[in-house]
Amino acid sequence: MKTVLITGCSSGIGKETAIYFAKNDWNVAASMRNVNFTEFGGFANIKKIVLDVSDYESITAAIDFAIKTFGAIDVIVNNAGYAAAGAFECASPEQIKKQFDVNVFGLMNVTRAILPYFRSKKHGAIINIASIAGHIAFPTFSLYNSTKFAVEGYSEALQYELNQFNVKVKIVEPGPIKTDFYGRSMDVLENSQIKDYDNFITPALQKINNSGNGGLLPISVAKVIFKAANSKCNKMHYPVGIQAKVLLLFKKAIPSCLFRWIIKTYMTT
Ligand SMILES: NC(=O)c1ccc[n+]([C@@H]2O[C@H](COP(=O)([O-])OP(=O)(O)OC[C@H]3O[C@@H](n4cnc5c(N)ncnc54)[C@H](OP(=O)(O)O)[C@@H]3O)[C@@H](O)[C@H]2O)c1
Repeated sequence: MKTVLITGCSSGIGKETAIYFAKNDWNVAASMRNVNFTEFGGFANIKKIVLDVSDYESITAAIDFAIKTFGAIDVIVNNAGYAAAGAFECASPEQIKKQFDVNVFGLMNVTRAILPYFRSKKHGAIINIASIAGHIAFPTFSLYNSTKFAVEGYSEALQYELNQFNVKVKIVEPGPIKTDFYGRSMDVLENSQIKDYDNFITPALQKINNSGNGGLLPISVAKVIFKAANSKCNKMHYPVGIQAKVLLLFKKAIPSCLFRWIIKTYMTT
């Protein structure tokens, strides 16, 4: 029986992915910041573990616990993440730093902690949950976009290093998915002294929220993550949902200025 360790399992994509792997006979180390509020319906092969991606000690402790409990880790899913959304000028230095601490450095920390183990075993897979926002920039998402673009570049460069050790790197790129991402997890960038962006940011944030409400269910991402985890080939990019696939295609097919005009017009009117 194979074992996956997933970050950010308290809700949304992480929680659904934990359940999907467990139903398909994997052991699951379902990690999250606070283990008290999330239940998995009695799966004996799911173990909840405390892991905050911005706390390196909690990462190494969770990895050790998973290996001791299940005997091995075969796959890591770097899922934990959130969006800071709004006008960049309204962001505090703390908000900027935290966005990168979780979405980029957190993901790198988990990867850095598992690599000695995967390298010694000459086996393993790292699945990074990026986003369509790792390829396409959207109004209000300057911070979130920059973290997901970073995850794309990091992952692509990393796979060159790790191929020789039989360690795969995969990137899952969902479009809008209906989760807490658009609610409690979102950090809305506000500054009561700056009003000049309001006419632009307010409709754009509304569009972002609407896209979440109309988004796919997280199970659709769980299935793609499962496919990536079981893949024997070197495919790296796994976009999720027709909307993500069409937008990615459009971005490649039409001139950049036209593409940006379409995104701006759609998002801000
Ligand atoms: N929903 C979408 O439309 C969408 C689209 C593309 C990509 N994604 C990506 O999918 C991933 C999961 O998001 P989701 O949609 O499932 O949203 P979600 O339901 O809000 O889940 C986010 C998860 O990340 C966890 N998290 C936040 N900061 C953390 C930290 N420092 N350490 C550990 N865990 C932390 C949250 O834990 P707490 O409960 O403790 O806050 C929660 O479990 C994110 O990386 C997101 O960028 C989402």
